[in-house]
Amino acid sequence: MRNIIIAIDGYSSCGKSTLARDLASALRFGYVDSGAMYRAVTLYFLNHSIDYDDRAAVIEALRHIRIEFRNINHQNRTFLNGQDVEDDIRDMRVSSAVSPVAAIPEVRRALVQQQKALGQTGGIVMDGRDIGTVVFPDAELKIFLTADPDERVRRRQLELTAKGLELTEESVRENLLERDRIDSTRADSPLRQADDAIVIDNTLLNRQEQLELALQLAHETMKQPA
Ligand code: CDP
Repeated sequence: MRNIIIAIDGYSSCGKSTLARDLASALRFGYVDSGAMYRAVTLYFLNHSIDYDDRAAVIEALRHIRIEFRNINHQNRTFLNGQDVEDDIRDMRVSSAVSPVAAIPEVRRALVQQQKALGQTGGIVMDGRDIGTVVFPDAELKIFLTADPDERVRRRQLELTAKGLELTEESVRENLLERDRIDSTRADSPLRQADDAIVIDNTLLNRQEQLELALQLAHETMKQPA
């Protein structure tokens, strides 16, 4: 069996991270949440009042940002300069600012470089917006996940409520649609389906069903000769 790279892309809140995590755990692969990296940079920019339009300030700030993932109590958590920021990067303050930050070419260049390095040895599942198109254009398996927008809003709201964050359905919907709009229209590596990606619409699939479908694709791919 080959140590392949699995790229999962798609719109906000369609379950990419859940599928990527489940797949990585079933295959004993590494998992990288590329969105968490954009969120961590955004948190740093917000905390340090970095002006996104100031190119020099952005480049300088990027030099001071170190992002790592650590496994704590079987949970993949994001660390920014040695601090656990996993909870902070999921809040609405970061969600509202992340897409403009992720559209900055210098930010993308820095993070894509780190993402490529993380995938060097294969045996990895990475989810995001440009993984199958830019980060790993040669990934052996590319999945483009989609789901009905109403279902995506419902899932994101459940996720936020579980974390004790009470937000109106309208504000969650606005944030998802606005991020989708910015992510798919930005000039630098916009969100789009790679030509060789396999589309999975998971609107009517539960977590186990989507995992089984993806695992089947992964096993078929791993059996193929390199
Ligand atoms: O969890 P959700 O799907 O809502 O978003 P995420 O995966 O945490 O990503 C947050 C934001 O980071 C996205 O809306 C994009 O603006 C940006 N992103 C990106 O530009 N490229 C990636 N590979 C991953 C995320």
